[in-house]
Amino acid sequence: MARREDEHVQLPIPNGWYAICWSRQLQDGEVQSVHYFGEDLVVFRTRSGQARVLDAYCSHLGAHLGEGGRVVGETIQCPYHAWQYDGETGVCAKIPYCEQIPKKALVRRSRCLTLPRLAASQRLRA
Ligand code: FES
Repeated sequence: MARREDEHVQLPIPNGWYAICWSRQLQDGEVQSVHYFGEDLVVFRTRSGQARVLDAYCSHLGAHLGEGGRVVGETIQCPYHAWQYDGETGVCAKIPYCEQIPKKALVRRSRCLTLPRLAASQRLRA
């Protein structure tokens, strides 16, 4: 019997969605450092209210974005030389002292899903 190609794919972690923080714990403009899946990540909420997750380390010289980084509009700004990374794509959106942004200036991003809050009447009761 022939095997399906994807039967023996071994991922380092299960493929799926994981909760890494409660939405109510992340205020507009707030930045948090978290460690999940063996990686340092930075979680932040943009000024328009979108929750975002990026790799914690700046692609310039490796500063930790969660340690002194700040939200600027829809980006997170590195605390070291102020490069700004777009929260949705991880791409460097602005370098304050440079007009040309290098193509490799990006940090890995994770898709972020914010679930709607349930009203008290919708919650499960044990
Ligand atoms: S280390 Fe982040 S901008 Fe230089």
